[in-house]
Amino acid sequence: ALRRAENVHWSAAGVDAAARARIKGQRPRVVWFTGLSGAGKSTIAGRVEERLNARGLHSFLLDGDNLRHGLNRDLGFGEVDRVENVRRAAEVARLMADAGLIVLVSLISPFRADREMARARFAGDEFVEAFVDVPLAVAEARDPKGLYRKARSGAIANFTGIGSPYEPPAAPELHLDAAARTVDELADAVLAALGID
Ligand code: PPS
Repeated sequence: ALRRAENVHWSAAGVDAAARARIKGQRPRVVWFTGLSGAGKSTIAGRVEERLNARGLHSFLLDGDNLRHGLNRDLGFGEVDRVENVRRAAEVARLMADAGLIVLVSLISPFRADREMARARFAGDEFVEAFVDVPLAVAEARDPKGLYRKARSGAIANFTGIGSPYEPPAAPELHLDAAARTVDELADAVLAALGID
């Protein structure tokens, strides 16, 4: 139903992605943070973005919760809507990478197939999947927004980890142990993976 691109043609006029990246003096990348609610995705991504900014690098953080206030405000948390949520975020990340940015995406993105669909929009090592790994019990104990408590009480039917599955990545470029390491240590690991010191 989403394939409406018949009779629509791609226009390649103007400046290309390589030229845009060149004047920024950086290599566009996408770091895709996936993990349970409360794992620390947005906190780590935010720290990485501060470090990039301090080094004069151009970045943008696409945060799932924030996108759901605008671009994705029509989407809920059923399976179909989560797939669409990830697809849109991947397409926006694609545009931003083409604009020359280092894009940080912070989305639960619970399904492996959807993350692979996102990955497929990028070339080679342009895409870095970062698994923000905490045991469910740790995320639930943190419960920064009180959502796990609501989910346990039955007030949220399809909460990730409780009423809805989370499929951990099998081979992420980065495995971030967010139960044992500090935010600063994990941000360092992300920068190292990007070859930025
Ligand atoms: S997804 O699965 O990728 O589409 O989710 P995402 O766009 O990252 O949004 C997750 C945030 O929405 C809040 N929230 C829920 N999460 C999971 N399941 C359900 N049912 C749900 N309802 C609301 C929650 O605050 C998530 O934020 P984070 O930052 O991940 O804790």
